[in-house]
Amino acid sequence: MLGRRLIGLLAGRGHDVRGLARSAGGEERVRRAGGTPVAADLFDGESLARAADGCEVLIHAATSIPQKKRVSLADFAANDRIRREGTRALLDCARAVGARRVVFQSIVWAARPADGAPFDETSAPGPDPVARSALDGERMIADAGYSTLRCGWFYGADAGTRALAESLRRGRVAAIRGAARLSFLHLDDAAAAFAIAAERAGPGLWHVVDDEPATSADFFRALADRIGAPAPRSVRKWSARLAAGRMSVDFLCTPMVTTAAKFKRDFRWMPRYPSYRQGLDQIVAQWTQDAAHGRP
Ligand SMILES: NC(=O)c1ccc[n+]([C@@H]2O[C@H](COP(=O)([O-])OP(=O)(O)OC[C@H]3O[C@@H](n4cnc5c(N)ncnc54)[C@H](OP(=O)(O)O)[C@@H]3O)[C@@H](O)[C@H]2O)c1
Repeated sequence: MLGRRLIGLLAGRGHDVRGLARSAGGEERVRRAGGTPVAADLFDGESLARAADGCEVLIHAATSIPQKKRVSLADFAANDRIRREGTRALLDCARAVGARRVVFQSIVWAARPADGAPFDETSAPGPDPVARSALDGERMIADAGYSTLRCGWFYGADAGTRALAESLRRGRVAAIRGAARLSFLHLDDAAAAFAIAAERAGPGLWHVVDDEPATSADFFRALADRIGAPAPRSVRKWSARLAAGRMSVDFLCTPMVTTAAKFKRDFRWMPRYPSYRQGLDQIVAQWTQDAAHGRP
């Protein structure tokens, strides 16, 4: 979701962009976005070196987030490998090609404190076990003198937001009583920030989020309202844990409030969608337009 947008943005700004592809479908997605697909895998050193050959900037936007409803720490093993081994492999390539920049994606909840206080780039690493590999990746990037963008919780027209809308329509979404405020980020804004970092960032760490932290319950209700779906029913935390497991519920019930002040200051960046409400307006307008043109 991030990579496809980024290819389009950077190609539109005149860059020659290569995208790693691991299947015919992946090649087609890279091509459609305006890039040149290269058959390569983060864990296949030779293919990665071929893909990076001649590049000035390398961007790590790979991930493998488990799609199950009920997740445990073990389900994140593939993602941990992408963040640790994948980052090391990319840095080896960066050295080999003398890359001017490497931009690593990370997650703001890597620094979310257990007490729920607001935090920023200067805060200590948080206790979230899922974020440990992200912190390891960040350390490797910092040691090599490159840049990391930690993003807020993604949403976008083609992201999990579409599946969420379907579930809302079927009355299958519950809003947890006691859900905490989280920092969100529209995927178009994430891509814009990565494009800026790819062109201009020096060594450093930045948080990239919108301006209006909100609870998942607020977000679900706002989306339901815009698509004419029934409002999600309200459930207690213990009942949500029974249905979705402790890990997901705790993720939604621990405050994750941070700010993009540093990124705004350093790069004169402003989110196009400062609030999830504006972002959802855009998304639903796009879905309506797609439907009118018979697009899926
Ligand atoms: N979701 C959030 O709320 C959030 C927030 C902040 C940051 N992030 C981070 O931002 C990044 C981008 O997320 P996203 O939502 O854009 O993910 P996404 O849509 O799931 O895309 C992940 C991409 O990684 C590729 N990939 C996976 N393993 C690979 C490997 N071994 N070699 C090469 N490519 C590989 C996948 O390729 P295939 O198409 O071949 O499978 C896919 O194109 C992730 O690292 C994520 O952790 C996410």
